[in-house]
Amino acid sequence: MQIVINNRKVHAMEGETLLETARRCGFPIPSLCWSGQAIHRSSCMVCAVRDCRTGQLIPSCTTLPTEGMELDSESNEVVSTRTLSLELLLSNHRADCEAPCRTACPGNMDVAGMNRLYDRGKTDEALGLLRDTLVIPATLCYLCQAPCEKICRRREVGDTVPIREIKKTLVEATDLDRIGNPPGNGLRIAVRGSGPMSLSAAYHLRKQGYEVHVFEPEGAILLPHIASLGKVPAGVLELEIEVIRRLGVEFFPSHGMPEAATYHRVITPEAKTKQPARLVLEGRRLALGEDPKAFQSSCSRFSEAEKKTLAHTAATANGKSGCLYCDCEAKTSCLLRRYATEYGIRTSRYPKTSAQEAFRCQRVSASVCFEPAKCIRCGLCVYNSANGFTFRDRGFAMQVVLPEENAPHIPEDLCQLCPTGALYRRE
Ligand code: SF4
Ligand code: SF4
Ligand code: SF4
Ligand code: FES
Repeated sequence: MQIVINNRKVHAMEGETLLETARRCGFPIPSLCWSGQAIHRSSCMVCAVRDCRTGQLIPSCTTLPTEGMELDSESNEVVSTRTLSLELLLSNHRADCEAPCRTACPGNMDVAGMNRLYDRGKTDEALGLLRDTLVIPATLCYLCQAPCEKICRRREVGDTVPIREIKKTLVEATDLDRIGNPPGNGLRIAVRGSGPMSLSAAYHLRKQGYEVHVFEPEGAILLPHIASLGKVPAGVLELEIEVIRRLGVEFFPSHGMPEAATYHRVITPEAKTKQPARLVLEGRRLALGEDPKAFQSSCSRFSEAEKKTLAHTAATANGKSGCLYCDCEAKTSCLLRRYATEYGIRTSRYPKTSAQEAFRCQRVSASVCFEPAKCIRCGLCVYNSANGFTFRDRGFAMQVVLPEENAPHIPEDLCQLCPTGALYRRE
């Protein structure tokens, strides 16, 4: 049958919902409580579209097309409705997307991610993540005031996680003979200067396959500067520059102009800060472009119950780092975060009303966890697990719960249906 979406005639197939027709025809519509072939009921309204004939806003995930239907999926009214739905969900969401140590780091280091790998004995991966973010991590550890350690949540219950010591330990495990030279893409880029911003840009461009020429002898300005500060032990920066050199970055002992015509691009870093980790981040942006600013849900002050949970988590944390892993395990896959980012939500316009406690985590099985404070009550886990999750109470007070005796009935792959980090598989 024929329907019209945003003034364009499209063909709707038998059995398809409006959401499926629209997406197939290239109209992006978000969804949270709908998931492919799984049993679902509309509740979140982030998939709202407007029926132009009646003027009503309808959920596209459960509405079937009818001949001649005319829909609007992109007007301001539709976008505002979806934004409002997302904001309401977020007002009932007590959780952190990123850990406070990462938001505090001027280099945007994913400390929790590094600690997870370190604690699991995945030293190479932890070091890879560290270098791919901070490029000269050990040097920065000696120069930086470590706001990550000052804000570390473990301080609430005792000592901070020794983040800088962990980074130094990882860097000490560097095996120069195992540094690979990434395959080239046939393009050459010149980078002027060899300060933190230039080194970072050179590192990331080389990893992307560019042939990179740095116009300044390696460490020409940075090494004497660091020596004058007297904070970084001899050999630390030299090792980190050697890693960059072994990746294939070439240094030219000339301060002159590179011949621009022989290069795909000439990069001249302009430092707007003196903060070394921030400079490294700017260098990365110069090479790779700006990361889109992702939505950040965060817990504000903790309740007494939350402090108790935090203390218990700290007392039972058994990784070498002592890290509480305060970030959300779903931070890169969560649909709620993705849509909040896409719809430009920075912080919810509505006060946090959640009755849920942050940090509370119910073990469903050896590898599956349920965090009620991240649940948006979409019901997917309820409708798709027999004798498993269930609703408690009604209206805004409604919660999704898993009675302990039902936990053995939960299939592992139920996690895949959860649109947030409420139900997830933990290694
Ligand atoms: S569930 Fe999503 S929105 Fe909530 S903390 Fe995790 S990543 Fe952020
Ligand atoms: S406990 Fe770990 S994740 Fe949490 S703030 Fe400290 S270092 Fe970061
Ligand atoms: S835990 Fe269940 S109800 Fe809550 S968001 Fe995940 S799938 Fe939806
Ligand atoms: S109501 Fe359609 S995806 Fe939630």
